[in-house]
Amino acid sequence: MNETLKVLENRRSCRKFKSDMISDEELKAIVRAGTFSATGKGLQSPIIIAVTDKKLRDEIAEENRKIGGWGEGFDPFYGAPVILVVLAKKEVPTHVYDGSLVMGNLMNAAESLGVASIWIHRAKEEFESDFGKNILKRLGIEEEYEGIGHCALGYADGPVNSAAPRKENYVYYI
Ligand SMILES: Cc1cc2nc3c(=O)[nH]c(=O)nc-3n(C[C@H](O)[C@H](O)[C@H](O)COP(=O)(O)O)c2cc1C
Repeated sequence: MNETLKVLENRRSCRKFKSDMISDEELKAIVRAGTFSATGKGLQSPIIIAVTDKKLRDEIAEENRKIGGWGEGFDPFYGAPVILVVLAKKEVPTHVYDGSLVMGNLMNAAESLGVASIWIHRAKEEFESDFGKNILKRLGIEEEYEGIGHCALGYADGPVNSAAPRKENYVYYI
C-alpha cells in the first residue's frame, strides 16, 4: 500500500487530545491541503476559520455544547487546542459537498503529519446564531455562509481507536 492509501485507511477520530498546540508549520500545511480540495465548478465556495485563540476556542466549545444539549463542563472538542471551522457560501448549489470535501482533506492531511483530528458537528446551527454571525462580522465576512463542520486538531493523548469493520455490501461492482 502506498503512503497516501495508508493515510486514508489509518485516519481515525480522536476523542482525547493533549492541550499542547500543534506547530505553526503543521497548522499551515493542513489548512493549505483543505484549500486544494475539489469544488463544484471550481468556485471554491468554502472558507476555513482557523481558531487557535484559547478564549475563542472555549467560547465555540461552549456554544457547541449548548446546541448539542450536553451538561455543563462537557467539551465537545475533547480538549483539542485547534478548531478549523469550515463554512461554505450558501448561494453555491454544491456548497455542502464542497465544504465536506474540505473537511476530508483537513483530516487526512492531519493524519499524514501525525496530528490527530475529528469532525465535530453543529457548525450549521452555530453560524445561524448571533454568536456565529458576530465571528464572521469581526472577520469582515459579509456574504451568507453555512457552517459545515469543525475539524478539531491536536496531538492524541493515548492510542486512537482502530477502525470498525467495514460493513458488508459497502461496494457493488457491476
Ligand atoms: C458529518 C460528521 C459529523 C460528526 N460529528 C461528530 C460529533 O459531533 N462528535 C463526535 O464525537 N464525532 C463526530 N463525528 C465523528 C464520527 O463519529 C466518526 O467519524 C465515526 O464514528 C467513524 O470513526 P472514524 O472517524 O474513526 O473512522 C462526525 C463525523 C462526521 C463525518
